[in-house]
Amino acid sequence: MLKPLDEIQAQALKALEAAEDEEQLLAWRQTFLSRSAELSQIVTAIPDLEPEERPQVGRRANEVKTRLESELARQRAALQAQALDKKLRQEALDVTLPGRPVVRGRLHPSTQNLRMILDIWREMGFQVYTSREVETEDHNFELLNMPAHHPARDMWDTFYLTTPGVLLRTHTSPGQIRIMRERTPDPIRVVLPGMCYRYEQITTRSEVQFNQIEGLAVGKHITMADLKGTLNGFARHMFGDGVKTRFRASHFPFTEPSGEVDIECFVCMGEGCSVCKHTGWLEILGCGMVHPTVLLNGGYDPEIYSGFAFGMGPERIKMLMHRLDDIRVFWANDMRFLEQF
Ligand code: DAH
Repeated sequence: MLKPLDEIQAQALKALEAAEDEEQLLAWRQTFLSRSAELSQIVTAIPDLEPEERPQVGRRANEVKTRLESELARQRAALQAQALDKKLRQEALDVTLPGRPVVRGRLHPSTQNLRMILDIWREMGFQVYTSREVETEDHNFELLNMPAHHPARDMWDTFYLTTPGVLLRTHTSPGQIRIMRERTPDPIRVVLPGMCYRYEQITTRSEVQFNQIEGLAVGKHITMADLKGTLNGFARHMFGDGVKTRFRASHFPFTEPSGEVDIECFVCMGEGCSVCKHTGWLEILGCGMVHPTVLLNGGYDPEIYSGFAFGMGPERIKMLMHRLDDIRVFWANDMRFLEQF
C-alpha cells in the first residue's frame, strides 16, 4: 500500500505543475482529492488491511492529503499572481504616448477687433463708456435733432419694443446725450462701443445687429481742426503711418457740418479695384461738429461749448481689412470662420 501512495503523490504533483488556470485546478482536485479519488479509496479500505499496516498507511495517507492540499493552495496563489501580473502589463498606461490636443477657446473676432480699436482710442486719451442697448425713442431720435416724422428717421429701420417709446438703439449716438447729461459742465472725451440693431433685410452687406464705436469730445475750444487731426491720428494708428485720408461733406441731423472719412484703398493703393468699387477709397466713418441743439439737449450751452463726434462700424472695417465679402459670418457662429482669428 505505501508504494501506491508515493506514486499517487508524485503523479499528482506533476499534474499540478501542468495546471494553468482555475478550471484545470478544479479538475485536478476532482482527480486527486475528491471522494472518488484513488487516495480516498485507499483511506476507505484501511480497515481491510492487516492491523499492523493500518497506522502506517493511515499516517502516510494523511501526509499525502495534507501535502496535496497545501500544494494546491500554493499553485492557486501562484496562478492568480501570474494572471494579475499579465493583466497589469496589458492594461499598462503608456505615458510616453502623445496626448490628444485640447481645443482652446478664443475671443470672437469682433471682440478682438473692438478691443484693438478701443486700445487706440484709449492711447489717444479717450475714456471708454458703455451706454444702454435698450433706449428711448427720445434718446435715439428726438434729442439727436430728429423730431417725429423727420425724414432722417428713415435712415434707420427700427426694432420697437412693446412698451411705447422704447426701442433697440439703431446707433450708439444716443449715448452722446447720456454722457453729456452725466458730465455737464465738464469737458468730455469718450468713445462708446456697443451693439446696435436695425430692422433690415439680412444680406451680405447688412445685418440686424452690429457694433458701432461712437466718439464724442466736448469742451470750450473744440474746432473742426481737432476733429480732423484726431481722426487722422486714429487712421495712422489703425492702418499705418503712410495711410492717406479724405474728408467728404455729408449729412447727419446731429452734426453740423457733417462729414465722412475715407482712407485710400489698401488693396489697390488708390488704383481702383473690386474692394473699393473702383473708387480708390474706402469709407470708414461718419463724423461732424456736434449740432448746437444736441449740445443744448445734453446740458451744454452751445454759445460756450463746442464738440465733435464720430461713429464707425468696426465689423465693416474688419471686413475691409480681411477682404470679407459677407457680413453674416460675424454672427453665424461657424467655427471654420471663427477659428481663423
Ligand atoms: N450714428 C450714425 C449712423 O449710425 C453714425 C455717425 C455719424 C455718428 C456721424 C456720429 C456722427 O457721431 O457724428 O449712421
